[in-house]
Amino acid sequence: MGGRVEGKVALITGAARGQGRSHAVRLAQEGADIIAVDVCARISSSKEIPAATPDDLAETADLVKGLDRRIVTAQVDVRDFDALKAAVDSGVEQLGRLDIIAANAGIGNGGDTLDKTSEADWQEMIDVNLSGVWKTVKAGVPHLIAGGNGGSIILTSSVGGLKAYPHTGHYIAAKHGVVGLMRTFAVELGQHFIRVNSVHPTNVNTPLFMNEGTMKLFRPDLENPGPDDMAVVAQLMHVLPIGWVDPVDISNAVLFLASDEARYITGLPMTVDAGSCLK
Ligand SMILES: NC(=O)c1ccc[n+]([C@@H]2O[C@H](COP(=O)([O-])OP(=O)(O)OC[C@H]3O[C@@H](n4cnc5c(N)ncnc54)[C@H](O)[C@@H]3O)[C@@H](O)[C@H]2O)c1
Repeated sequence: MGGRVEGKVALITGAARGQGRSHAVRLAQEGADIIAVDVCARISSSKEIPAATPDDLAETADLVKGLDRRIVTAQVDVRDFDALKAAVDSGVEQLGRLDIIAANAGIGNGGDTLDKTSEADWQEMIDVNLSGVWKTVKAGVPHLIAGGNGGSIILTSSVGGLKAYPHTGHYIAAKHGVVGLMRTFAVELGQHFIRVNSVHPTNVNTPLFMNEGTMKLFRPDLENPGPDDMAVVAQLMHVLPIGWVDPVDISNAVLFLASDEARYITGLPMTVDAGSCLK
């Protein structure tokens, strides 16, 4: 039996680890070949989050190859449009087509109220989490249009793209901006049968969330908070009694939106949030 995205090719940014790696594996399990892009280096001013490495990206490649799917990897910063375009063009040349774009790469930095956020943190956040998403789609879209088979674009926003929290205003602004990109691309690309949707995860168990800085943000009352301490408070964000979800929970949403099962779904901000937006 064919997989749910059998024979398609997916471009995934931020694919060295976390959700991006999970998307690569999940789409490959369902028959897709992968173009995997990641900066694999420290670019964030955040000290608490260790940078992804070239070995991480190589591990993603091994996991996809282990599923008998093809993968092309590239170490590229999504802020660099020319490098991104070259990587996507080369990936499409090697794999023959492009059908799916998952613009997932993103960072967390800072942790101040907006009035105290540094200009450097603000600029880096907007450059990666908003402009990087736009550049990813811009690099991939000509191949979707040229292919003439339609396509599916999934932009990773956040619950923070639909509601506000204190201390991450630059992240909230960037992720709300992603919704604007999603809606505009959906309107502009619909004529080509290219669908554009966004996913809005709550806390996900990846290094971006599961780190010392986040634990201190959730538990400023404790000197050395750990995951269990954070879970008690994180759970209060949700209707379902959990503190966070797993990367595969987001990948399953991405897979659905990428597949023909979602053939008439476009312009949808899809939450995977354990009910966070109800609160
Ligand atoms: N983890 C969460 O709680 C959570 C919640 C909501 C939304 N998100 C979003 O999900 C996406 C994936 O995050 P994650 O949780 O997997 O985090 P992660 O830190 O595990 O993975 C992010 C990946 O993106 C890569 N990356 C960062 N900046 C890049 C750049 N400029 N160019 C290329 N690659 C870059 C990193 O190297 C890393 O491999 C992000 O957009 C994030 O904002 C995360």
